Amino acid sequence: MAGGRERVTHMLKQLYRASCMCPAHSHNYSQSIEKVVSGKTEYAFEMSLSNIRYGKGVTKEVGMDLQNLGARSVCVVTDKNISQLPPLKAVLDSLTANGINFQIYDNVRVEPSDQSFKDAIEFAKKREFDSYVAVGGGSVIDTCKIANLYASSPESDFLDYVNAPIGKGKPVKATLKPLIAVPTTAGTGSETTGVAIFDYKELKVKTGIASRAIKPFLGIIDPLHTFHMPERVMANSGFDVLCHALESYTALPYNQRSPCPSNPMNRPAYQGSNPISDVWAIHALRIVSKYLKRAIKNPDDQEARAKMHLASAFAGMGFGNAGVHLCHGMSYPISGLVKNYKAKDYNVDHSLVPHGLSVVLTSPAVFTFTAPMCPERHLEAAQIMGMILLIT
Ligand SMILES: NC(=O)c1ccc[n+]([C@@H]2O[C@H](COP(=O)([O-])OP(=O)(O)OC[C@H]3O[C@@H](n4cnc5c(N)ncnc54)[C@H](O)[C@@H]3O)[C@@H](O)[C@H]2O)c1
Ligand SMILES: [Fe+2]
Repeated sequence: MAGGRERVTHMLKQLYRASCMCPAHSHNYSQSIEKVVSGKTEYAFEMSLSNIRYGKGVTKEVGMDLQNLGARSVCVVTDKNISQLPPLKAVLDSLTANGINFQIYDNVRVEPSDQSFKDAIEFAKKREFDSYVAVGGGSVIDTCKIANLYASSPESDFLDYVNAPIGKGKPVKATLKPLIAVPTTAGTGSETTGVAIFDYKELKVKTGIASRAIKPFLGIIDPLHTFHMPERVMANSGFDVLCHALESYTALPYNQRSPCPSNPMNRPAYQGSNPISDVWAIHALRIVSKYLKRAIKNPDDQEARAKMHLASAFAGMGFGNAGVHLCHGMSYPISGLVKNYKAKDYNVDHSLVPHGLSVVLTSPAVFTFTAPMCPERHLEAAQIMGMILLIT
């Protein structure tokens, strides 16, 4: 098979040499290598991860964590739906059992907007919280990161930290309060990343804030929470894991990107594929290939759902440092331009295209387009996903 793969790679490279050389379609390794020689490209990468704790029922420890942190006033962030479900109850029971003083913000918008972020920021700014707990999917965890960021940096304008060119993309210098994330989807991996995404209504696009400073202090991954997910939430959040793994594995390598930052503080969270992210991306892909269909088809398949919960964190560790590319890039206008699409199983009163769905929609076209760039990686991923390569 290895010999066969080499032949396919060789053929794809031959095809590539004969193909379009316009600026939009002709990015290739040889161009990038020239940049390396010129000394202007990146030469290093940095792994930044949250602490992670995994185990069935481990949510019961969150009250002790807050006690260990010396927390006196905790902001618990969730959405209206989760607030009625066992994951929030498990967190609140633990906080109460450990005598932790807390207030709940449950007004998170599913697929947050700039307005909903600002609402959570206002809530946090008016109180003096010394720690945060997010209980929910990516929408909740991202909102909690942002409330923490702007409450810790009260003089900042909202656009200061938003990614350029929409915002100013300023580096975060403020020290944030510890945030513990309890993810309930499988999932965005947001418990491991320094990223928060929102819908910028004025421009009808999604964008975000990316900084290692907003990364949770601890992710408590309790597979019990995934058993409550409706079928479509499981499917869409699982597609997100799939694309995180595939995109980070096929992203431009870190040492072929430019410019190289003059100060490590300016090295972006998304640095391009790198040897450590690769390990997590491939591992996540193997789990998704084996368990995603099972987890969707049968909500009682606890093994499959628990494995997907871990895969979500693994993919997060990969893409949180490598970044994603076209599927995610193109998902932002898809979800930003939504008019009246109602997503099945999403218990909300507004139109939305679920993030994982908006991402996976373009994936066949994206990977057809990117395959000539690094055919070995695309073939490897296809094989992991069950494609049998017949090479003669
Ligand atoms: N920060 C990151 O690294 C990152 C990465 C990818 C996506 N995102 C963002 O995360 C958001 C999507 O998050 P998501 O896919 O996790 O879903 P979500 O948080 O938007 O939740 C989707 C729906 O599922 C419900 N839900 C969540 N967990 C449940 C459970 N265990 N049982 C029953 N219902 C449950 C929610 O109440 C909601 O109605 C998007 O805004 C996306 O852009 C962030
Ligand atoms: Fe995503």
